[in-house]
Amino acid sequence: MTEDKTILKMTNIVKEYENVKALGGVDFSINKGEIVTIIGPSGSGKSTLLRCINGLSTPTSGKIDLRGRTSMVFQHFNLFPHMTCLENITYAPVKVLKRPKADVIAEAKELLEMVGLADKANVYPAQVSGGQKQRIAIARSLAMKPDLMLFDEPTSALDPEITGSVLEVMKKLAGEHMTMALVTHEMKFARDVSDRVLFMAEGRILEEGSPEEIFDMPKTKRLKDFLNSML
Ligand SMILES: Nc1ncnc2c1ncn2[C@@H]1O[C@H](COP(=O)(O)OP(=O)(O)OP(=O)(O)O)[C@@H](O)[C@H]1O
Ligand SMILES: [Mg+2]
Repeated sequence: MTEDKTILKMTNIVKEYENVKALGGVDFSINKGEIVTIIGPSGSGKSTLLRCINGLSTPTSGKIDLRGRTSMVFQHFNLFPHMTCLENITYAPVKVLKRPKADVIAEAKELLEMVGLADKANVYPAQVSGGQKQRIAIARSLAMKPDLMLFDEPTSALDPEITGSVLEVMKKLAGEHMTMALVTHEMKFARDVSDRVLFMAEGRILEEGSPEEIFDMPKTKRLKDFLNSML
């Protein structure tokens, strides 16, 4: 990587499954503090791209330069059901990063405060709502002190009236200049927080630009049709 501020640089990433080309040669990079949103129809390769970034999938070919640590928030929160909300957050920093437990607990409490759930520290995931679970999942990801946060449709499994609380937390992170790559169907949110928006179709980045360029001046028919379908 040439520039200091580049956290991630992917070059010509191809990902093939048996008879599907999920990614057909994607170039993508992200700078420190940048917020990039990925939009596009179902099956266009958005999740595959994020999975290649964090190592859940291995590209068939291409090059990935990643500086630092990533952490991913999924559509389905996958909290550990047998651990309290606090324990969900402290588990990996203690086990994986081998950090001192007292420090990690203190930070986890601050994170719970940040996501507005200080009062849920000692209850189990089954005792909190879907929107609250997702905010715990975000706190759990942040506890790993990632250099790059990945979000894959964090609100699409939630009822519309509670997506707001999750988007608020993400807005807060954006305000703190957390580096983020996110897949979302929330177009208004994407327009508000993104520095850059990518439109994917059939495993490729078809358009890329500022929110104004993508949402107000779409160039391709594919993107125009997609935006109309999201209204
Ligand atoms: N593990 C897998 N095995 C085989 N094919 C897969 C696998 N994962 C994804 N695919 C295929 O790769 C393509 C891209 O999938 P991907 O999940 O990245 O799409 P997406 O843009 O995230 O879609 P959605 O909006 O529905 O989440 C699809 O055709 C999908 O069926
Ligand atoms: Mg997906």
